[in-house]
Amino acid sequence: MAAAIITGGGGALGKGIASVLLNAGWNVVLVDLLAEHAREVSEDLGGVPWKTLDVTRLEDVRRVFAEIAVEHDGLKALVNCAGGAMALGVPKGPLVDSEPEHWSRFIGVNIYGMFNCAHTAAGYIKAAGGGGIVSIASGAGMQGGPPASRQSGAAVYSATKAGVIAFTQALAQELGPSGIRVNAVSPGRNESRAKPLARMLEMQKKEEGEQAGSGRASPLGRFGTPTDIGEAVSFLLSQQASYITGCCLDLTGGIRLH
Ligand SMILES: NC(=O)c1ccc[n+]([C@@H]2O[C@H](COP(=O)([O-])OP(=O)(O)OC[C@H]3O[C@@H](n4cnc5c(N)ncnc54)[C@H](O)[C@@H]3O)[C@@H](O)[C@H]2O)c1
Repeated sequence: MAAAIITGGGGALGKGIASVLLNAGWNVVLVDLLAEHAREVSEDLGGVPWKTLDVTRLEDVRRVFAEIAVEHDGLKALVNCAGGAMALGVPKGPLVDSEPEHWSRFIGVNIYGMFNCAHTAAGYIKAAGGGGIVSIASGAGMQGGPPASRQSGAAVYSATKAGVIAFTQALAQELGPSGIRVNAVSPGRNESRAKPLARMLEMQKKEEGEQAGSGRASPLGRFGTPTDIGEAVSFLLSQQASYITGCCLDLTGGIRLH
């Protein structure tokens, strides 16, 4: 069966998405910048195939996707999940205190990485008779402006994630006639590799102490989980979503209502 590639598949959300897609019967292949991340997730999920890849390098994306297409009888789906502010090593703080080099890291992965992977995967997915692309945006891309004290590089991160959503809408129109549905999801506050649940609870307690009722907590009374994100991605790639394209599903648990 043709493959579903998950970029950033060695991360927290990549793992949650991979786990749900495997249960749904997808032939998942993880790609990640860091071999140790991809290997660990692969082992945790029972030996899922993986490869190292820097999504910012188009030539590498072309080479690795071509290898995967040969090894797995084509490509049927792409999940753009590489990134994560903390994984990119961008410090917290306002724009005026940040450096263009930090902006480039976000733009490189969140924008160029997504362009490179979608540009490369589209031809293969079309050749497979159609399929889907889902990109991981963020609540920060639907309504910019998480506090700079909480979100690394908040302004630039928000701008790149808004770019993910607009790119999704435009590409959905280009690729619909080829049978490729293009969607996005916007997680709110979830675990990441650098921010496990215990750390998130600690951060929220501190925030509420400083600014009680700030509206940064979900009315559902919990943080999102990587499985929540995986379920939504799986839905968007499934037949149940066969008439959904160009959409960005809000997965903030009601933190950011529009
Ligand atoms: N966790 C959240 O709260 C949250 C909220 C909204 C959006 N997101 C988005 O979800 C995506 C995944 O985030 P996460 O929380 O799983 O982060 P994470 O840090 O747990 O995982 C990110 C993974 O991406 C990989 N990566 C980084 N640069 C790469 C590159 N150039 N090429 C290939 N792989 C690369 C890292 O090695 C890491 O394994 C990101 O796009 C992030 O912006 C996360």
